[in-house]
Amino acid sequence: MRITTDRLVLREFTSGDWPDVLAYQCDSRYLRFYPWSDRTESGVRAFVQMFLDEQQLEPRLRFQLAITLADGGALIGNCGIRRKSENNSEADIGFELSPEYWGQGYATEATRALIDLGFGEWGLHRVSSWCIADNVASVRALERLGLKLEGRLRENEHFKGRWWDTLLYGLLEDEWRP
Ligand SMILES: CC(C)(COP(=O)(O)OP(=O)(O)OC[C@H]1O[C@@H](n2cnc3c(N)ncnc32)[C@H](O)[C@@H]1OP(=O)(O)O)[C@@H](O)C(=O)NCCC(=O)NCCS
Repeated sequence: MRITTDRLVLREFTSGDWPDVLAYQCDSRYLRFYPWSDRTESGVRAFVQMFLDEQQLEPRLRFQLAITLADGGALIGNCGIRRKSENNSEADIGFELSPEYWGQGYATEATRALIDLGFGEWGLHRVSSWCIADNVASVRALERLGLKLEGRLRENEHFKGRWWDTLLYGLLEDEWRP
């Protein structure tokens, strides 16, 4: 799959993408809301391999795409839309971006294209997502996309020596403005 937006190209991962992913996933700003305290070459190779394996699934229920700049092709992050089964009318979305590119609307732009795909071509009824409650940038991106807060799981994650709350977000087909 390949999706083009105003400034981005969302494309399938290739095996040669891991160094670009490693470069940004090692950044402490990126790592803040993940259980990882660092990333290694083998860890990131496995991370990218997971997306390559998903490309072979039939039916293809999970699309985790590299976010690249339309201008120059640099890989700046990734975003995904995932269904549990072919007949499932709900998909889960997620995104991450190199800190060098935060705050420029790229996550919103990429994820908007995935939601368009979900409610458009796939005919979904519901799109959902979740994030660590303290992750203000992620909360803002989800709310900017129109997702509504549906729940808060209190202290359901434990990493980096403390408990974290998780927020659940959802968006219905008739709430989406393409
Ligand atoms: C979450 C993330 C993808 C947002 O990417 P982004 O491209 O900067 O987001 P956008 O530019 O589209 O902005 C979305 C909103 O987040 C806000 N935002 C972006 N970076 C922010 C930051 N560091 N702190 C606070 N708000 C921030 C923007 O101002 C915007 O809100 P607004 O509409 O009120 O102005 C990015 O911060 C990231 O990759 N974080 C690490 C990985 C991660 O946490 N992924 C999500 C897992 S659930």
